[in-house]
Amino acid sequence: MTKIAIFASGSGSNFESIMSQIEAGHLPNIEVTALYTDQVNAYCIERARKYHLDVHINELKNFDSKADYERKIIEWLTTEKVEWIILAGYMKLIGENILNAYQKRIINIHPSLLPKYRGKDAIGQALNSGDKITGTTVHFVDSGMDTGEIIEQRTCEIKPDDTKEQLEERIKAIEHELYPEVISKIIQ
Ligand code: GAR
Repeated sequence: MTKIAIFASGSGSNFESIMSQIEAGHLPNIEVTALYTDQVNAYCIERARKYHLDVHINELKNFDSKADYERKIIEWLTTEKVEWIILAGYMKLIGENILNAYQKRIINIHPSLLPKYRGKDAIGQALNSGDKITGTTVHFVDSGMDTGEIIEQRTCEIKPDDTKEQLEERIKAIEHELYPEVISKIIQ
């Protein structure tokens, strides 16, 4: 079994899509040790409870520095013998200590066709750009914001009268298929 940790800060729909693929037996050699979140009220916590999964809640404001905050995370990762970190809507840059401990073993999903529209509000940026196609990208994580080596991308159409919510829903639908597939290919 390969042990993975999933990091999320928000709704956690990508986290749940991975959990449901595991539950359905589609990622047979992968075990999620816990959900790691930096947001005490995030909906991903509810989703984790549904799967009876441990949750580590770690708030940056309780530490003197980001390095101390990440030291706590590394403690949990080490105790759980985590081999890969899967970012699923985790809205913090990964700092040096975690990066060094998990070289090329951290992956992220970002809702644009990188290198386009890095950072916050990628979907809004795509919508305002006049582009007709956008999508999502799974990539390795490095010290930059959505800059690491691209693993796989999937496209989706931007319709002329799309609202941000409609486009987001369509992108999430392809993310929920793509992310478990990539995890299966890269980690199994
Ligand atoms: C996803 O669309 C993911 O691509 C994005 O956050 C959303 C999380 O949704 N990630 C980033 O923007 C990272 N830069 P979810 O909480 O419903 O999975």
